Amino acid sequence: MSLCDTLYDAACAVRENAYVPYSRFQVGAALRAASGKIYVGCNVENVAYPEGTCAEAGAIAAMVAAGETVITEMLVVADSPTPVPPCGGCRQKIAEFAAADVQVTLAGLNGARQVMRVEDLLPGAFGAGHMDRA
Ligand code: THU
Repeated sequence: MSLCDTLYDAACAVRENAYVPYSRFQVGAALRAASGKIYVGCNVENVAYPEGTCAEAGAIAAMVAAGETVITEMLVVADSPTPVPPCGGCRQKIAEFAAADVQVTLAGLNGARQVMRVEDLLPGAFGAGHMDRA
């Protein structure tokens, strides 16, 4: 089984647990960290809508809670006609823990796949270097 299939299966499984009474749009995310371990997350909505969290944020939180901080590959899956792109906030969250060339696969349940790199998701990303003073 290829690495991407492993991430796809993990993301599909956790997607089933998404708590989405408001949007009814289930999203699953799986990432591989530097140790090789896989961490997963699903979206968790809230009646106060802005308090909901995305699947990507959940997977990243699980990784950090386990003591890791380096993403080596990530996959996001949803049941949408075209592969679901991470929201702007999640792009910044991913960039915090993944190098520019890390692959992020956007997947649909219908088999659609789009492979992107972190630098494609967030060109011109704000980084720690921007806080250096001249
Ligand atoms: N959502 C994610 O979890 N990840 C994405 O990449 C896009 C959007 C969630 C947030 C909300 O629960 C639902 O999808 C609809 O926006």
